[in-house]
Amino acid sequence: MKLILLGPPGAGKGTQSVVLSKTYKIPHISTGDILRESVKSGQALGLKAKSYMDKGELVPDEVVVGIVADRLKNDDTKKGYILDGFPRTVKQAEELDKALKTIRSSIDMVLYFETSAKTAIERLTGRRVCKACGFNYHVKNIPPKKAGICDKCGGELYQRPDDTEATVLNRLKVYEAQTAPLISYYAKSGILDKVSGDLGVNELNKVLSDLFAAKKIA
Ligand code: AP5
Repeated sequence: MKLILLGPPGAGKGTQSVVLSKTYKIPHISTGDILRESVKSGQALGLKAKSYMDKGELVPDEVVVGIVADRLKNDDTKKGYILDGFPRTVKQAEELDKALKTIRSSIDMVLYFETSAKTAIERLTGRRVCKACGFNYHVKNIPPKKAGICDKCGGELYQRPDDTEATVLNRLKVYEAQTAPLISYYAKSGILDKVSGDLGVNELNKVLSDLFAAKKIA
């Protein structure tokens, strides 16, 4: 099962990816997570990426395309994978198509999480992330049992620097200008399915499982 999750920031792509990855035992490949990890460990890649990420701008295509091309060479991707947050520009999608063609592979389904700006802003400004294990919470929708502490590992929760309202608004603008054109790119290739990102976590997960069953891709 080779999936791309497409949608604006805050659509719930990361949250669904975690559940799908567990259910279908395929890796969750998030370019945002990989970039944040490089920032945390002080790698040269992270230093370059940080200035773009903090402003809510996209990291240059050649950087992220290289990251994903390397990651897809890992053996754990043989059964399938979930691409979360990649591709994000038409150039990235074209590079992915080229790379997959050379290994006679292709994407099975692109899930477009159609989401209102109101939902995205409310979710992102309320998001809290565990410093230790990376699990995502939301102060109202998915609160931890104890404020500021991760239920799973007891780690401290923090707000991502790009989740402030001003940066979220810029991320949504960047999404409309540079990523939304991928909706028609994948619709033309006949592999796009639209779902509502405004649904609750469990409701949306059920919609996805039903879709996989109907399309016989699970
Ligand atoms: P990235 O980490 O990919 O951020 P994003 O796409 O902006 O995605 P988010 O994680 O903000 O949203 P999401 O849809 O995953 O929502 P989530 O499930 O977390 O990218 C960050 C930056 O890295 C970019 O700005 C860019 O600089 C760079 N970058 C990354 N990839 C790149 C690329 N390919 N090219 C260039 N640059 C790149 O949920 C959000 C919140 O809502 C959480 O609090 C969650 O608990 C809650 N929530 C989730 N689902 C629901 C639901 N159904 N109901 C209620 N609450 C929910």
